[in-house]
Amino acid sequence: MKVLVINGPNLNMLGIREKNIYGTQDYNALVAFCQNSGKELGIEVDCYQSNHEGCLVDKIQEAYGVYDGIVINPAAYTHTSVAILDAIKAVSIPTVEVHLSNVDEREEFRKISYVRSACVTVFYGYGFDGYRMAMEALIKNSTK
Ligand code: DQA
Repeated sequence: MKVLVINGPNLNMLGIREKNIYGTQDYNALVAFCQNSGKELGIEVDCYQSNHEGCLVDKIQEAYGVYDGIVINPAAYTHTSVAILDAIKAVSIPTVEVHLSNVDEREEFRKISYVRSACVTVFYGYGFDGYRMAMEALIKNSTK
């Protein structure tokens, strides 16, 4: 099984940005965590990050026929992007939404997710662990 982990804008600033919310570990540590989780779960994992909505859409489109699952933290685009929602729907690849923070306990606008309706499930508020939980959900979903 091949899984693509996609991270949206400002997640490359992990370890620097709002440490009280996102923690002190940086983006490279997140990539290492995802790679290790993949190894332990027996799946192949590739990671991608972009600050640009169109690049995220391109990456989702390119995943068609290549990946069996997507783990996506669309970051701020979660709350605005019909284009990312449509891309996930277009490729029909089982996708799990992830957020490091508990988006339900923050500003009102963070409670809205444009992508959620196209996702198998969502994990938020578990920090890095949410990415592993998302991989486990994809594995479970693939054996349904
Ligand atoms: C985030 C939550 C979003 O609301 C925010 O814009 C982010 C990160 C998270 O992982 O908690 O950039 O997706």
